[in-house]
Amino acid sequence: MAHVTCLAAARNALLTKHSWDVERKGLNGAPPIRILSNNQRHGWIERTVRLLGIGNDNVFDSPVNKQGHLDSEDLLRGLQEHAGKPTIVLLQAGEINTGVFEPFEELIPIAHEHGAWVHIDGAFGLWAAASSKYKHLLKGVDQADSWIVDGHKWLNVPYDCGYAFVKDSRAPQAAMSHRASYLTHDAVARDQIDWTPEWSHRGRGIATYAAIRQPGKQGVAELIESTCQYAHRLVTRISALPYAELIWEPQINQGLVRFLSAKLNSTDADHDLRTDSVIANVLESGEAFFSGTTWQGKRCMRVSVCNWKTNDLDVEGAINAVQLALSKQ
Ligand SMILES: Cc1ncc(COP(=O)(O)O)c(C=O)c1O
Repeated sequence: MAHVTCLAAARNALLTKHSWDVERKGLNGAPPIRILSNNQRHGWIERTVRLLGIGNDNVFDSPVNKQGHLDSEDLLRGLQEHAGKPTIVLLQAGEINTGVFEPFEELIPIAHEHGAWVHIDGAFGLWAAASSKYKHLLKGVDQADSWIVDGHKWLNVPYDCGYAFVKDSRAPQAAMSHRASYLTHDAVARDQIDWTPEWSHRGRGIATYAAIRQPGKQGVAELIESTCQYAHRLVTRISALPYAELIWEPQINQGLVRFLSAKLNSTDADHDLRTDSVIANVLESGEAFFSGTTWQGKRCMRVSVCNWKTNDLDVEGAINAVQLALSKQ
């Protein structure tokens, strides 16, 4: 819903620039909105564009470059192809497999030069800004038009705490706001109905406030830094095991490894099978939870550390569980 809120604001702002009042007229007959992103985007986008009536045929993606993000030349080409059309450029702060951050400082000005709205999916990655060690990854992100981040990922707040941020408050308010005589509205106090699609919801902000207030700024930074360190240790130590291969070294708290088949003349399909079977074996051990993923056509084990309780013992236990799983096969 955080993404829906931001993209509803984007839809309003872009179509207003095209002299189309979407809140009154809807999308019938409106200039079609285009969305440009890299092809490793998260699946929320499909569902959001369905809900907002933008439609999946209007999402155009480019393959990621070697660094795992949208290339500036591909972005430029996309913007030129759709020149003059209302366009949203979607960038990521923390890709789910690799944790990659797009180079915001480079890409956002290009998007803005072409009149696009820039939206940032920072579901977990935006929290990296809390750490002086990792905040450089977010350089330039403040130039975007909207951002989302989840509390229920890196901040360890219970589901469902997604936060939407929009630079110009007029757009979300035009898309969301409502007034009713049976409600009390205040001219000064922030009115929730101006900001979210729901009329009423529980006090999610309280859990968020507590989760930031209790550890404080330093505590949130430590949470970010320790989980990044653990992810790095897990990936480097696991990929040093026999028949393990490093696929993506964590830049933050996400990385990828895969496991190679010991069969003679083994193929990628054999490596995929072995990877899934090592993961299943580790899960059976109950020692750690890793999920499988397909990245650039290869089955991989996804290493993601975000729990505040994870400690050295857990990490050693997880590495031992992988080693044991490998020795069994
Ligand atoms: C990068 C990214 N974006 C969006 C989402 C969707 O977030 P939510 O689970 O809060 O709907 C996720 C969830 O895994 C994610 O990792």
